[in-house]
Amino acid sequence: MTNKFKSVPVKSSEITPYSQYLSRRDFLKAAGIVTGSALLAACAPSVTETAAPAAEAPVVSPGLTDELGDPANTFQDITNYNNYYEFTTDKEGVAKLAPKFNPSPWTVEVNGLVNKPMTFGMDDLLSKFTQEERIYRLRCVEAWSMVIPWTGFTLASLLKEVEPTSDAKYVRFESVLRPEEMPGQKSPFYPWPYQEGLRLDEAMNDLTLLATGLYGEPMPNQNGAPIRLVVPWKYGFKSIKAITKIELVAEQPSTLWNDVGPNEYGFYSNVNPEVSHPRWSQASERRIGELGRRQTLKFNGYGEQVAYLYEGMDLSVNY
Ligand code: MTE
Repeated sequence: MTNKFKSVPVKSSEITPYSQYLSRRDFLKAAGIVTGSALLAACAPSVTETAAPAAEAPVVSPGLTDELGDPANTFQDITNYNNYYEFTTDKEGVAKLAPKFNPSPWTVEVNGLVNKPMTFGMDDLLSKFTQEERIYRLRCVEAWSMVIPWTGFTLASLLKEVEPTSDAKYVRFESVLRPEEMPGQKSPFYPWPYQEGLRLDEAMNDLTLLATGLYGEPMPNQNGAPIRLVVPWKYGFKSIKAITKIELVAEQPSTLWNDVGPNEYGFYSNVNPEVSHPRWSQASERRIGELGRRQTLKFNGYGEQVAYLYEGMDLSVNY
């Protein structure tokens, strides 16, 4: 059912049996109220994980692949190997600390150079914007990758709503600041809150997603609940988690990783096998769940959709 995909985005009706899709829509409307087990009942016949799954982990549907034919990582992988420095720098420790975080209620402020500044609650975001499923590759700058079935809506649809003015050239994102729930934020080594940025045309690209869930579940805390960015052609650190503020600005905004290591992490951070990180090659990557390494694809395989954004730019300078 899934190898037919030739292009992204993938329509949710193509990756999910229709009955399951309908129940998922109901679920999305009620997100925050129902628990994962309600959805589990609606899941199709499935492959059971070898590792003991968490009580509410959805069972993995067989045959879920990206448009290149590569299988989606399991829910177990996606929720137990995380980069989320607000909790800890230990990828396998994030899931253990994340339950203390409370993502509800939640608001996202959208303001700056816009005609209609707005503050959205999660219910508004889930009901106002069409929730789609997109199976994307996520390539971390540390040279590992996964394939993740997200649920979410395009950032473009949100930005259209607030009407950026002609002076708006960039979008700045800010994560939540809650050191009492996120022990890593007590670390003085990072300038909290986490912040990120995109050029406005990158933000408006149809691939750029505000993700609210994965595998049809509300976003797990460790993956950035309740709402995070997903920019699949850029290194994973651009995909900022637990967003509370989105600001339209005229100048290129600061980003946490660029502040911490300007020679190592540029503003653009497009996946590029030809430009090494100063401390390691980016030519290949380890797909979580696989033994060998695979070659890294330029723009993480999304060049057809995004290469036009960088025409005439030297990507070894604008890394
Ligand atoms: N967002 C915040 N707020 N804090 C983080 O530490 N880590 C980034 C990104 N978004 C991070 C973040 C990095 S380095 C990666 S690779 C991805 O989240 C990992 O997303 P995942 O844990 O859902 O796979």
